[in-house]
Order: sequence, then structure tokens, then C-alpha cells
Amino acid sequence: MCGIFAYLNYLTPKSRQEVLDLLVTGLKRLEYRGYDSTGVAIDSPDNKNIVMVKRTGKVKVLEDAIQEHFSGVEYSEPVLTHIGIAHTRWATHGVPCERNSHPQRSDETNGFVVVHNGIITNYNDVKTFLSKRGYEFESDTDTEVFAKLVHHLWKTHPTYSFRELVEQAIQQLEGAFAVAVKSKYFPGECVASRRSSPLLVGIKTKTRLATDHIPILYGKVIPRSDSTSEFMPMEEKEVEYFFASDASAVIEHTNRVIYLEDDDVAAVRDGTLSIHRLKKSLDDPHAREITTLKMEIQQIMKGNYDYFMQKEIFEQPESVVNTMRGRVRFDGNSIVLGGIKDYIPEIKRCRRLMLIGCGTSYHSAVATRQLLEELTELPVIVELASDFLDRNTPIFRDDVCFFISQSGETADTLMALRYCKQRGALIVGITNTVGSSICRESHCGVHINAGPEIGVASTKAYTSQFISLVMFALVMSEDRLSLQQRRLEIMQALSKLADQIRAVLKLDSKVKELARDLYQHKSLLIMGRGYNFATCLEGALKVKELTYMHSEGIMAGELKHGPLALVDDSMPVLMIVLRDPVYVKCMNALQQVTSRKGCPIIICEEGDEETKAFSSRHLEIPRTVDCLQGILTVIPMQLLSYHIAVLRGCDVDCPRNLAKSVTVE
Ligand code: G6P
Repeated sequence: MCGIFAYLNYLTPKSRQEVLDLLVTGLKRLEYRGYDSTGVAIDSPDNKNIVMVKRTGKVKVLEDAIQEHFSGVEYSEPVLTHIGIAHTRWATHGVPCERNSHPQRSDETNGFVVVHNGIITNYNDVKTFLSKRGYEFESDTDTEVFAKLVHHLWKTHPTYSFRELVEQAIQQLEGAFAVAVKSKYFPGECVASRRSSPLLVGIKTKTRLATDHIPILYGKVIPRSDSTSEFMPMEEKEVEYFFASDASAVIEHTNRVIYLEDDDVAAVRDGTLSIHRLKKSLDDPHAREITTLKMEIQQIMKGNYDYFMQKEIFEQPESVVNTMRGRVRFDGNSIVLGGIKDYIPEIKRCRRLMLIGCGTSYHSAVATRQLLEELTELPVIVELASDFLDRNTPIFRDDVCFFISQSGETADTLMALRYCKQRGALIVGITNTVGSSICRESHCGVHINAGPEIGVASTKAYTSQFISLVMFALVMSEDRLSLQQRRLEIMQALSKLADQIRAVLKLDSKVKELARDLYQHKSLLIMGRGYNFATCLEGALKVKELTYMHSEGIMAGELKHGPLALVDDSMPVLMIVLRDPVYVKCMNALQQVTSRKGCPIIICEEGDEETKAFSSRHLEIPRTVDCLQGILTVIPMQLLSYHIAVLRGCDVDCPRNLAKSVTVE
């Protein structure tokens, strides 16, 4: 989804060329979020105006356009203090084109320019209000109203500071947004704010900051002339600030960041950052903490891999171990989930468990539902966040609701979380992004610790979400005597998982051969049942997302109720048939397919000659306990979709029309 990157250097000389390079690199780090157009705004050489360059398409296109735009212009002269803003846009209001790209501006002179993520839902009302006051709109975006509203406020309230103008503007707006604003009337200043859309501020100083927090200032508007006192000077003078939608864009510059909260207005003036809120409620804190990011720069680089997705698939032997690290004690057969341990007694008393998510995260809930039912002996309900909200689902105070999200920012999941929280349920977040909205708004939770996932199609986050939910089931059954044997079996299987994933990854070249057979087909049916049904759904999602081929995950039990009509000698079919409690039923389905001349690819257990005999094409995976099979069976599906995508010439890391973090409903 859209990405914001803004850079402010204070008393730190940088040429405009360097600033532009920084902005473009920032946008490149945000590319994975998904977007269809880009733009930047910097000061003109005489510092009197703002210059914007915007393009449809990839950041590379913008980079070339910037070179062309500024060729022959003197951009190597260092500037002591400057603010540049940049954006990747994922179209929601208006087609991807230069006119609709951000920054959007207040007027022809580029008085105020703004980059924005999210959707302003009352933009039509604001547009009508501003049109009546003579403003003419040039784009189809909701964002433009923001720039023009700030301009209108500036004209009508000449004493307001830049921060106050933005603060007044956001109070008129409804919806979800993160914004960064630059103005030619306030050189060297930047104001940013967020509501339901992530935004952080990175701080870089020569020496370590003397403070680990920025005080929050509450209160009403102060005239510009008196407002100096609101800025708490930091001890260092030279400073650089980075405003970004996520940490991957700032980590190469600094690991010191502040995650902004909803309705925070962050302003930099004279090199000093202040965070302001209009109203103070009782439980509001006094300061925003500066956190140290644990992420390493290598984690967001491709290394020797061709694509991030490929790298992330191959990282799974390590990422699953990281999910269990410090939590599972294989010698003592015990598990501690620090983030929820105090809530376990409350969870044990609950009426039901609800698992809510979107896309791949939803599939991790489908994958673990059966084990959760078995080990918690509670009703477990699995919901797609969007559908859950559409239905106004009844929620009770004694419900425990899990919100599963790699990014922790998915709008539907976040809305569902707020809906359940309002109704008094206990909220458990299962996320991969520390500091994300879902993390912060949950009562308790589990960080899946899979490391940054850049490829839009989720892979390692799925296996880590899967393991997190398995660990939760194990924690819930710790004191159940009758379940001890089963727990032991699962714990032993967990200890072997990393090696078994390594073994599955060795199938890569075999999977590539299968991809060659399949990549020119129009469709792929993926069938299985029981613990592997989720793999069918997730496998089909991967194929759709990455290859633009039609694919369907089919519950093998439903085969005879419709999908069998699709099967003939030319329809590609993949079937998962493992030696688990549903083996006989899966074999029935396999026979139904082969007797209709179907020639399925079979995923079966190593050495299972009987099953293999049904087809010349098969992938053998190591044996593990039934409830963890889904981790091993999903990996060939990830590899298959990856190879088909490469063969079809698709953009593996950024599939068309999709976004990594879907922050709009
Ligand atoms: C988008 C991504 C999917 C992801 C889904 C949920 O659609 O393209 O890969 O599974 O969002 O994202 P979340 O961050 O909530 O897990």
C-alpha cells in the first residue's frame, strides 16, 4: 500500500542531489508495500519554491525522470537545512497517473505539498466547502483536499504555526490517514500526523541522543509568535529526521525511532521535534518513547537471491526457530509465551476462541484450528476480517479474539480488533511487526519473530504464525494429563522441524521442473483435506497472487459436490495425500480424479510407494506429526508459485494490483 518517506536535515549540509538520492532510496525500500505511481518534492535552488517530480509506474521511472528534470541544474551545492518529501501511491481515488500521484498541492505556487496514505472519507464534504471558497481541484484524489484545507486555514489564520495549521486540518477530516506536509511558507519545517495508518519518525544525531523520549504537549492552539516554548530543545544541534511508513525505509540511516500514535502531530522546527496532541485524556502518557530497532540492514537486502520472496522461502529453517526461540524448552517439554502468560487463566475461562485475519494470515488460522480445538477443548471460530465486520458478528465479554497479521496494519483486521475490543473481548495480537497498530492495540500477544518480510506474497510469516498458534495450543494444554502424550509428540516434531524444512527446500529443482509443465496452463486445482486443507487454500492464493493463473484450493471432501466436473485429462491437479487420519478419504478422492483421466501431481510422505503409484509426478516430504504437516506441505506450494511466476515473467516481489500492507478497508 502507499508509502511515505520524508527527510529533514538540520545543520547537516546535504546537496539537493544527495537529498534526492536519499528520497529515492527511501521509496525503493517501501516498494514492496505495493504501489502504482511515485513522486517527490524538494526546494528549488533559490529556496523560494517547491519543485515536484511525479511519475506513473516504478520508482526507477521516477529516478530517471529526476535525473532528466534536474540535468543542467546546479544541485550539488550543499544546503544546511532542508526538507524533502516522497511517496509511493497505491491508487484508491482516481487512476494511477501523474496528476493523481503525490505530493498533492494546495495551489499552483506549491504553497503546501502533502504526501498521504489512507483514505479521507469525508473528502467530498471538504471539497464542496473549499470549492465554494474558490479552490479549484486538479486531481481525483481525496488527498488534494488536505493540501487545500491547510492552505485555506493558513489564509484565514495568519498567526497559526505550521503545526497548528495541520492540527486544525486533521480535526476536520474523517477516515484513516498518515500525512507528511511541507510548505514554502515554513522552510526547513515538516509536520506529520497519523490516524489508523502507520507512521514513524527516525532520528539521527552524531552522538547518541541524551533523551530516550519526546514529551507530548497537550493543549489548544498557541499563536505562532508565542509557540517557541512548545519545542523542547534536544542537546545535539545537528540532526536528521526521517518520516516513514515503516522501519525498513529508515534502518539504513538510524535505529532510533518513535512510533506515532493516532492523532499525534509531530513537527520539526529549528531542528527540534515536538509531538503535540490537542486533548489529554486520563490514561494518556506524558511522552513518546524513542525505541531502538532490532532490525539489521541485511534483513531488508536480497543477498544472493534473485527475489525477496525466494530469500524468504529459504529463510524458513531459521525463521521457524526464531519463532520458538526462548519460548520452547525441548528438554523440559515446556513452553512459555511471555506476551500472554499472565492472561492464560483468563483465556482458559473463555466462552470461545475467535481467530480473525485476512489472506495468508487467515489461512494460518484455518491451518491450526483443528489442533486448537483438540488441545484447548474450546469452540474455535475462524473468521475473515472483512466478512466478520460485514455481519456485525455478536461478540461477548468472555470471548478471546486473536488478530493475526504479518504487518499488524491491515485495515480490515484492525477494524475488527476495535469492534471486538469495544465489546469487551480479550484481544490477542499475533503479528510480525513490533510497534504496529495491532500490536499496540492488543491486550496481549505473540510476536512471531519471522524477521522483515518484503515480498508481497507472504511465506515465512505464514509458517511462523502457524507455529505461534501451535505453541499457544501447547501452552493451553500444559496441565491436561490426558493430553501429555500428544503434547510430547508435537514438541518432538517441533524440534525436528527446521531440518525437515531444509529437506523440503531441497526439492526446489524438482518443483522447478513441475513448474515448467504447468506454467502455460490457465488453471491449477489444489486438493486436500483435514490438516492440509489450509495448504490448499494458501497454495492457491500464492499461485493466483504471483502468477495471475486461476487456482483453487479444494476441500477433497467437496470434490464430488462440484469440482469433479472440472477434472479431465488436461486439467492440472495437485493433491496432498499424507498418512494421517484422513488418508483413506484422500485416497478415495485421488481415485475419483485418476478414474476421470486426471493425472495429478501428488505430495506424499517419503517412501510411500502405494500412494506414489497413482501418478508419475510426485513430491515426497518427510514424515511429521499430523498437525504440523501443513508447514512442510506449504513449502512446495510456495516454491511452485514462485517458479511459475518467474517462468511467466511476472513481478515476483510486487504482483500487479496487490499491496503488502492493505491499510484501506
Ligand atoms: C495483503 C497481502 C497478503 C497478506 C494480507 C494480510 O493482501 O498481499 O500477503 O496475507 O494482506 O496481511 P497481514 O499483514 O494482515 O498479514
